[in-house]
Amino acid sequence: PQRHAADLIVFGGTGDLSMRKLIPALYHCDRDGRLADETRIIAMSRGGLTDADFRGKVDSEVRPALHGDDDEGWQRFLRRLHHVSLDVGSSDRGGWSALTHLLAGYEDRDRVFYLASPPMTFGPFCREAHEAGLVTPRSRVVLEKPLGRDLVSAQAINDEVGEIFDERQIFRIDHYLGKETVQNLLVLRFANAFLEPVWNSLWIDHVQITVAETVGTPGRRGYYDHAGALRDMVQNHLLQLLCLVAMEPPSRNDRESIRDEKVKVLQSLRPIVGSEVDRFAVRGQYTAGEGVPGYLDEPASTPTTDISHRVETYAAIRAEVKNWRWAGVPFYLRTGKRLPDRRSEIVIQFKDVPHAIFPGAAPNRLVLRLQPSEGIHLLLMAKEPGAGEVTLRPVPLSLSFAETFQSRVPDAYERLLMDVLAGNPTLFMRRDEVEAAWRWIDPIIENWEGSESLPEPYPAGTAGPAGAHELLARSGRTWHEEEL
Ligand code: BG6
Repeated sequence: PQRHAADLIVFGGTGDLSMRKLIPALYHCDRDGRLADETRIIAMSRGGLTDADFRGKVDSEVRPALHGDDDEGWQRFLRRLHHVSLDVGSSDRGGWSALTHLLAGYEDRDRVFYLASPPMTFGPFCREAHEAGLVTPRSRVVLEKPLGRDLVSAQAINDEVGEIFDERQIFRIDHYLGKETVQNLLVLRFANAFLEPVWNSLWIDHVQITVAETVGTPGRRGYYDHAGALRDMVQNHLLQLLCLVAMEPPSRNDRESIRDEKVKVLQSLRPIVGSEVDRFAVRGQYTAGEGVPGYLDEPASTPTTDISHRVETYAAIRAEVKNWRWAGVPFYLRTGKRLPDRRSEIVIQFKDVPHAIFPGAAPNRLVLRLQPSEGIHLLLMAKEPGAGEVTLRPVPLSLSFAETFQSRVPDAYERLLMDVLAGNPTLFMRRDEVEAAWRWIDPIIENWEGSESLPEPYPAGTAGPAGAHELLARSGRTWHEEEL
């Protein structure tokens, strides 16, 4: 639980992320007794809402989506909420005066500015907050992803924010790092002795990291046209997962040791440049299928443009970590919208047995499932019961977190918000990490954006473009799709 009350100021506080993720997560933290009594949540948006309007909006939009709440606790939570109207970059300083008024007398509290807004607002927001005299020594700033749209813009944002806040006050969020299974990956690797000796190219054939979504992008074209799967998902979520799989054991579980090891992985990624992009990276865009419109026909507030035709809603990449541990082990990454199932997982495929005495032996696989049901499955070969010929079958040794621990699996944002309030940056990205990730992604995006060809179409509800399957088939491998 929080020891001291804090003020959490959410810019973009009435937006999609805030209403869908942040507010529910804060409510759950409050319900579990983790917020200090006096902690306040101050949403800022252009909306012109009063405190009462904002509380009403949260009551009608957020409450119905919660899984169980008690009335008294909910009313207490609503009383924590405030709203201040603010337009960053405008000459009207009314919003900043209102915020100054609300924060006056609370200078010794931890103060968190959470920027759930487009990246181009990060620099101006920090500058204006500083000019208004609101950045105290106990202030922190949280930056939502995507941080920029390439290395140069990310550096510019980091510089701008860095003029106002020290690196130790800057929390770059990647909510995948707050997911239970992701946390567990570190425990699995570094609190068990049996895995580490086989966690290398001698024993592992390849790694697959999949983040498959069934959702499309309705209403999000304005954002997504300028992002695409590489910027939206691979640069951050998938590369972070790759780092946790590939990193060396850190010497301590502290704020810098883990991040030091992750950045080394990013710096060891073999660049994919020029003609290699076509060989090692695949992109797709969904078309209509199963009763839903294609990307270009999704309802949106902005019309389709040339850019819309070029945006990838699916990406698959064959990555390589060039170091002693991982030489020659491909890391296959894939993510896409409008796929048949919502499934996020990491599959570690071990090598074949060195000498097979039973026909039909398949290699062992360790599956770390993040979604839908969080758990860990080790696929072992077993003999099917029977007196006849020996028939082998892969069977899972399974750990389901929900069943084993009989408790609600908290949303990633709950963990991360509590970490920000406690000032613990271990699960947040450091400047060098974000920039190293862009450095690797940039040449792929540049190649795609400069290419004459378009993403490969795939009908909504199917398993993505054929090219993604060829990417593995070339080396005799296939994507794993098993039900567990
Ligand atoms: C976000 C992306 O960061 O992650 C979205 O912007 C994506 O496009 C979402 O849908 C997926 O998160 P989760 O937790 O639902 O897997």
